[in-house]
Amino acid sequence: MKKLLIQLDTDKRASTFDQVVAYDAGADNLIIHSEITKEEVEDIIYGAIFTRSPKKMKNTAVFIGGSDVEKGEKIMEAVEDVFFANFRVSVMLDSNGSNTTAAASVLKVKEEIDLAGCEVLILAGTGPVGVRAAALFAMEGASVTITSRSQEKADKKAEMIKEEYDLEKIKGVEAKTDADFIKAMKNKEVILSAGPPGINFISREMWKNEDSIKVMADINAVSPAGIEGIEPPADGDTIDGIKVFGALGIGSLKMKLHKKAVAELFKTNDLSLNAVEVYKLNEKL
Ligand SMILES: NC(=O)c1ccc[n+]([C@@H]2O[C@H](COP(=O)([O-])OP(=O)(O)OC[C@H]3O[C@@H](n4cnc5c(N)ncnc54)[C@H](OP(=O)(O)O)[C@@H]3O)[C@@H](O)[C@H]2O)c1
Repeated sequence: MKKLLIQLDTDKRASTFDQVVAYDAGADNLIIHSEITKEEVEDIIYGAIFTRSPKKMKNTAVFIGGSDVEKGEKIMEAVEDVFFANFRVSVMLDSNGSNTTAAASVLKVKEEIDLAGCEVLILAGTGPVGVRAAALFAMEGASVTITSRSQEKADKKAEMIKEEYDLEKIKGVEAKTDADFIKAMKNKEVILSAGPPGINFISREMWKNEDSIKVMADINAVSPAGIEGIEPPADGDTIDGIKVFGALGIGSLKMKLHKKAVAELFKTNDLSLNAVEVYKLNEKL
């Protein structure tokens, strides 16, 4: 029986990247709905759950993508609202690569340091990747600080993470000036830069005097780096005694997680893969 992946994409042109990964992960065919809205989900999901017998339902799965993570989250909710009893298929959310990128970033850092009790700083940590990474670091027992240009937004996002993931040690700080970032870096062992492409937050002069830092990672692939000195291919390289990871170093693990996650969707009909579930898939790689 053919493995069919229903790709629900909130963008006008469904992601080519997600399509290629889906085929590489073992999907036989993709049923693509672009510019999907939550109102349109019900009929599409009925088509997925009322067609194949319960034993064969695992051969149909849903992937939610697109550049807008908030819209993707609403589509995920709408999809899960349609499921009832065992009338469901496996579903994964990875809008803008947010879940796979956050999971890969935290896993890379974890290769180098015991996260339990660790002090982590996430620069520009209020976006979809930063928020998910914060939750995963905290899940591993780290104390996490996320920066934002606004204290109000930092507090709001920190509270949201605590509530949504049932976690405690997460706080937000405003950081706009060099002095703010230097203050935020004090006593931090891990720094992850999760800002938009081409925005630098800390210069080498700023971080090189912070003796507490042991690992740094930057997921922005566009120069200048969020953390000056980290090149995109860095994959556990050492700079000034600090282990560093760049966007491509993290990206290779992200790709493996993405492919593994799509392959897992076809093993059973009851998976819901979000940040935490994708993170845990590392054990199966
Ligand atoms: N390597 C990979 O495989 C991969 C995959 C997917 C994504 N990414 C990268 O991951 C990064 C994070 O993605 P995302 O979608 O979570 O990021 P995002 O939402 O675009 O940005 C994160 C935060 O950056 C702050 N920000 C926005 N514009 C800014 C500016 N001009 N100056 C300073 N701060 C600014 C905002 O925080 P405040 O408003 O709170 O300050 C925002 O919440 C991006 O660089 C993306 O390209 C990498």
